[in-house]
Amino acid sequence: MQQTFILEKFMGLSSFLIVLLALVLFPPFSLSSPRSSLSEGSSLSVERPTDVLISANGVFSAGFYPVGDNAYTFAIWFTKPLPDGNGTLVWLANRDQPVNGKLSKLSLLKDGNLVLTDAGRSVFWATNTISSSSVQLLLHDTGNLILRTSNGTVLWQSFDSPTDTLLPGQPLTRRTQLISSRSRSNYSSGVYKLFFDDDNVLRLVFDGPETSSIYWPDPWLSADEAGRSKYNDTRIAAFDDSGHFLSSDHLEFRAADFGTGPRRRLVLDFDGNFRLYSFEEQTGDWVVSWQANSKACRIHGACGLNGMCRYDAGSGRKCLCLPGFRMKDPTDWSHGCEAETELSCNHNEFTFIKLSNADFFGYNIHILKNYTLERCMETCLNSCDCKGFHHRFNASSGVYDCNPKWTLRNGHWSLSLPGDLYVKAPKTASSSDEKALEKFKLDCLGTANKQLDRIYRRRHESRLLTSLIWFACAVGCIEIVTVFLVWWFLHRTTSPDFSEAMGGGYLPAATGFRRFTYDELKQATRGFSEEVGRGGSGVVYKGLLCDGRVAAIKRLNETNRGEVDFQAEISTIGRLNHMNLIESWGYCIQGKHKLLVYEYMENGSLAENLNNKTLDWDRRFQIALGTAKGLAYIHEECLEWVLHCDIKPQNILLDSNYQPKVADFGLSKLLNRGGGGGNNSDFSKIRGTRGYMAPEWIFNLPITSKVDVYSYGVVMLQMATGKSPTDVVLDINGHAGEMGQRTLIKWIREKVNTSVTMESWIEEIVDPVINGKYDAQEMQILITVALKCVEEDKDARPTMTQVLEMFQHHESN
Ligand SMILES: *[C@@H]1O[C@H](CO)[C@@H](O)[C@H](O)[C@H]1NC(C)=O
Ligand SMILES: *[C@@H]1O[C@H](CO)[C@@H](O)[C@H](O)[C@H]1NC(C)=O
Ligand SMILES: *[C@@H]1O[C@H](CO)[C@@H](O)[C@H](O)[C@H]1NC(C)=O
Ligand SMILES: *[C@@H]1O[C@H](CO)[C@@H](O)[C@H](O)[C@H]1NC(C)=O
Ligand SMILES: *[C@@H]1O[C@H](CO)[C@@H](O)[C@H](O)[C@H]1NC(C)=O
Ligand SMILES: *[C@@H]1O[C@H](CO)[C@@H](O)[C@H](O)[C@H]1NC(C)=O
Repeated sequence: MQQTFILEKFMGLSSFLIVLLALVLFPPFSLSSPRSSLSEGSSLSVERPTDVLISANGVFSAGFYPVGDNAYTFAIWFTKPLPDGNGTLVWLANRDQPVNGKLSKLSLLKDGNLVLTDAGRSVFWATNTISSSSVQLLLHDTGNLILRTSNGTVLWQSFDSPTDTLLPGQPLTRRTQLISSRSRSNYSSGVYKLFFDDDNVLRLVFDGPETSSIYWPDPWLSADEAGRSKYNDTRIAAFDDSGHFLSSDHLEFRAADFGTGPRRRLVLDFDGNFRLYSFEEQTGDWVVSWQANSKACRIHGACGLNGMCRYDAGSGRKCLCLPGFRMKDPTDWSHGCEAETELSCNHNEFTFIKLSNADFFGYNIHILKNYTLERCMETCLNSCDCKGFHHRFNASSGVYDCNPKWTLRNGHWSLSLPGDLYVKAPKTASSSDEKALEKFKLDCLGTANKQLDRIYRRRHESRLLTSLIWFACAVGCIEIVTVFLVWWFLHRTTSPDFSEAMGGGYLPAATGFRRFTYDELKQATRGFSEEVGRGGSGVVYKGLLCDGRVAAIKRLNETNRGEVDFQAEISTIGRLNHMNLIESWGYCIQGKHKLLVYEYMENGSLAENLNNKTLDWDRRFQIALGTAKGLAYIHEECLEWVLHCDIKPQNILLDSNYQPKVADFGLSKLLNRGGGGGNNSDFSKIRGTRGYMAPEWIFNLPITSKVDVYSYGVVMLQMATGKSPTDVVLDINGHAGEMGQRTLIKWIREKVNTSVTMESWIEEIVDPVINGKYDAQEMQILITVALKCVEEDKDARPTMTQVLEMFQHHESN
């Protein structure tokens, strides 16, 4: 076996030499140095691939870009291709009218006009500029294509007419707007726009074929409530090299990786979300460093008329037609769904289909207060216009509100939505439709959609010749080194571990999520010898994987879950990817053995660090923020089925910089679901840990993501005060008693309410370990937010996203 192995290495070596030879004989790069400008009277031809302007720093290219069969646009893109070989376009001249792949030209005429002509000589696009002096077209290092005269006057620049992208330093003004692409691969103008509205507020609008509606900032908020100002009529917005965005309406944000370094672009994506991307050198791909809407289904027009939207961690969002409806255009959701049979006005032909935790935004016929379900149904049945209604309990008035709707648009599901939706459907709508709908609703990841969203895309195939050659070079080099190493190894000693690892094909190409064998993990943990933690779901061991990574390996307690089910859900967990969640590297299922493999955190858990002086206030506040981000991601992004259900200091791990990572998410579901079904009643068994458990568990109320919010609140109170909700302490009157979370919460509430000044209550409750070194404002916001999180009534608690918003609001002040 070793011989064939060495043979392979030598074959690799020879292939490397061939590639090297090829490189010398046929250099892949043009020898003529690329130009960054075009002078008067010359042109770029669609037929010559070398007719490309490249900025002096090499970052941007401008030229003809293929957008379809024999269809080209004149565009600017990042020179470096993505791992899949595609370019990242930043500007297009003629997105809605591509030119022919033959004879088309971009010419800089003597009179100063820049024109794009199609094969038939007709002008498809022009700058319509005139100049008597000589002119030059220059691709600047910033990605700005500039037409300027010899004395430096700018006649035209691409920064003044953005398509869907802003680059650092490129302003969005009263005269410009961003228009999304039609789809990922169709670059023509889509249905979403970013613009300064008449009231000076920067907004996103869905401008569809039939309707148009603003969805960002949230339409039910006033400009003030959304943190915007209507009173600065400058109407200008831009972001700088460090990733700091500022708009004249007071919208301001920073990239998650704030600071100069990575290249960035701000894009109105085809799905209607407005995102800031940063380029990650390691993966060679773009990652999202800010986005306008964390809830993909809140974006209007997502699923069209009579369509329902559900967030899907794989594809971003997923659409489904209401029961009794079918997709109008099977290739395009924006056209929505149409009734399978025309609805008449006859009472007896209808039935109502109930969808819990769902709503359609807007289009209410009336808002009827104090209506029972029966009365609401009757009202809707009696009205031909009524297509369905929303019925929900209004806690502030203590009665049910009924909202009949005359059209069903912008439908979405979210467990955070109160109330039920009843849709009028023909009696013929089969119950299987309904079942399919329910299944879809609960299927957070389901079968991954055809296109994975960029954010989640990790692995790529390389298509470009250049990347292939570079790859071959790299492989060749590695092989030479490997051959040498192997030779050295064989002559030194025979190492069974090493050759077994190679022979078994177990050197993963990249850090991917994968299945391990039981023997592998047994070896990694040296027979499960070093225990580092123990919890309800199993025991955690420290282990060394054969690729040298240190891992935390969790041996799950016996479960009754089938292998297929288990594998499906475990891969879901593997795909959740966030800097504040523990990264999963793989799993093992073999007979009764079920194990999970995670990254190992040197600094242990929050619980181990709480009484430690190294955990200063700054770190504590960062832990509060990071934990909230991790939880908001699992709750809102992937929807609530990945409830954590066991938030406690033991499950918040700290990396080397004391940044928190939430561990054990997804396990509640993984371990306890008996086959089928999958609604909230799955959570029939009390779960969680005493001291951190929400009242819903005790009173047998519906379990929602708010149970995690509650536990998060308790942990935050504990972190700020240093008092554990499970400790036995002397109470306020000096009697020994169990502190318990309620006592802790009550104690803090009393201090906050009875103290005269903020400073005085903070002083009384703050953890003495911090030694008075804290930021009073941060302390105040943390306690205020935490107290909201631990409200007895789950509806009074904020969602994790709202928690984040409260923190961020404070940060920006
Ligand atoms: C890459 O480009 C091709 C052809 O333009 C297109 O079909 C494909 O969808 C693109 N891939 C991505 C991920 O955008
Ligand atoms: C450049 O020349 C144009 C006329 O071609 C003139 O209008 C303009 O003022 C000049 N600009 C500068 C900066 O000299
Ligand atoms: C892109 O979308 C537009 C608008 O829907 C359509 O007219 C055009 O044919 C599409 N182009 C391609 C290449 O699919
Ligand atoms: C309006 O916004 C611009 C751009 O952000 C800023 O420079 C200017 O100071 C603002 N004006 C007022 C009155 O706030
Ligand atoms: C709601 O309606 C019922 C019956 O119509 C009435 O008895 C009750 O007082 C109403 N409640 C409120 C709060 O208006
Ligand atoms: C609940 O009812 C009150 C009083 O009628 C009303 O002001 C409020 O807007 C209602 N809340 C919602 C969410 O509809």
